Amino acid sequence: MGWKTLDEMELAGKVVLTRVDINVPVEDGVVTDTTRIDRIVPTVKDILAGGGKPVLMAHFGRPKGEVVPEMSLAIVRPALEAALGVPVKFAEDCIGGPAKIAVTELQPGEVLLLENTRFHPGETTNDPMFAASLGALGSVYCNDAFSAAHRAHASTEGLAKLMPACAGRLMQAELQALESALGNPARPVTAVVGGAKVSSKLELLGNLVQKVNNLVIGGGMANTFLAAQGHGVGTSLCEHDMTDTAAEILAKAEEVGCSIVLPGDVVVAREFKAQAAHETVAADACPADAMILDAGPASVAKIGQVFEASKTLIWNGPLGAFELEPFDAATSAAALKAAELTEAGALVSVAGGGDTVAALNQAGAADRFSYISTAGGAFLEWMEGKTLPGVAALEA
Ligand code: 3PG
Ligand code: MG
Repeated sequence: MGWKTLDEMELAGKVVLTRVDINVPVEDGVVTDTTRIDRIVPTVKDILAGGGKPVLMAHFGRPKGEVVPEMSLAIVRPALEAALGVPVKFAEDCIGGPAKIAVTELQPGEVLLLENTRFHPGETTNDPMFAASLGALGSVYCNDAFSAAHRAHASTEGLAKLMPACAGRLMQAELQALESALGNPARPVTAVVGGAKVSSKLELLGNLVQKVNNLVIGGGMANTFLAAQGHGVGTSLCEHDMTDTAAEILAKAEEVGCSIVLPGDVVVAREFKAQAAHETVAADACPADAMILDAGPASVAKIGQVFEASKTLIWNGPLGAFELEPFDAATSAAALKAAELTEAGALVSVAGGGDTVAALNQAGAADRFSYISTAGGAFLEWMEGKTLPGVAALEA
């Protein structure tokens, strides 16, 4: 890995411009999930311990280059202060006079949070002038925002080129976890890919068949594969115009020796709602007036066997309509199996993506995985084999 860590940086007395992702969910002015805040704490503490002055840069929502008061990072400041346990000051603009004054007034042991970088259009256009204005505030750059590393923005990419740059602790952990799951994994390696649409995960499936030994396909996208195999899927969510593409993926997998695991039995219902009357049928026997909402118990048993025979697991996307009970059953059972094997030391398990983490949390399995990524889009792009601009800039 061609990037530096905080350990290799001169921090004492330096203003460390630290890009974090604290794009957290908020309801009625209160942060409802502090995971992303909690996960940047080690980085900020290590900068403070090294005698540096952490100046945090972040985006919040998508204000599109304008000041949108509801997207002010002032909303997040109290939760950040609570997590860090040190005073967190706030600058009402991330560049210019307010930011410069706040940096000058920052005392050792304190942290400064700058206002939403996306209040300026130059952030998302990666404008060199805007990056230079951010750069004028400090002398060391630390990127701890893996979950925003798929964006080539001024604070995630441009700034890295203007001064000595390093990865923060969370960035480091995310990249190491992904490297152990897909870069240089212990084999056999199994990927679970679920979710609604094949069309949104085409590149992912195309990349994974070349990299993993087993590919478990679940969720709505599995229906498209079943249809490609000539099975009726009733009223199920299914992209009928993607069946040729699904067939190509199956052929490619066969050619490179990647074993594709599709549901052999499925849980069907007549309505898309929680507690809808349901039955389990063979995957080739979905009634014409029913929809597939989950994988069945035989499929779960098969997935469990695949996990048992694997050393590494990477997971993105639920196996069924997990938000509707009892159609979370396959996702939960498979997640618990992965958690058990992980705890027994038999499996390295890595998961990412908003829905995925929600499903694993609901199953009580998330804490028992080897690593849970804070990233959605960036995790997916990394799994697709894409270069993340925020990471590439650290390597330059
Ligand atoms: C996220 O929440 O997915 C990241 O913070 C990136 O946000 P974005 O999708 O608005 O770039
Ligand atoms: Mg996103």
